[in-house]
Amino acid sequence: MTHRILFVCLGNICRSPAAEGVFRAGTPHHVTDSAGTSGWHIGDPPYEPMQQAARARGFDLSDLRARQFEPADFDRFDLIIAMDDNNLNDIEALRPRENETPVRLFTDFAPQTGADHVPDPYYTRDFDGALDLIEAAADGLIAHLKG
Ligand code: 4NP
Repeated sequence: MTHRILFVCLGNICRSPAAEGVFRAGTPHHVTDSAGTSGWHIGDPPYEPMQQAARARGFDLSDLRARQFEPADFDRFDLIIAMDDNNLNDIEALRPRENETPVRLFTDFAPQTGADHVPDPYYTRDFDGALDLIEAAADGLIAHLKG
């Protein structure tokens, strides 16, 4: 079954494009996109240090461009994945009446990591730590979808 999955973070230049890039590399069968709760980087490619860290692991993010999350995304996708609680709350604030699309934290799919969010590498500068979590959560999500 083909799923439509949207990955969301704050800027849409670090965590969510990396999550989309890692996820689509692991399973090409689904429709994917990413978005930011902010409009700060609309049209920008992923942040160069994140692209470099991802490329070193074999993930090419260069085709991705930032856009802002919008209420219509609740109808376009059947699963929305947030990187942290702020993203999740900002997404939920835009939910249309009667829409029931699930919004989940990405780290829910990697309980073995003990993490309850993906820390923002734009601030922490730990791009590899973010990618470690993203790879674990992408594997867990893929397993969940195969369920
Ligand atoms: P992201 O990281 O949410 O993982 O894309 C950020 C990137 C840029 C900014 C904040 C977070 N910013 O403030 O420009």
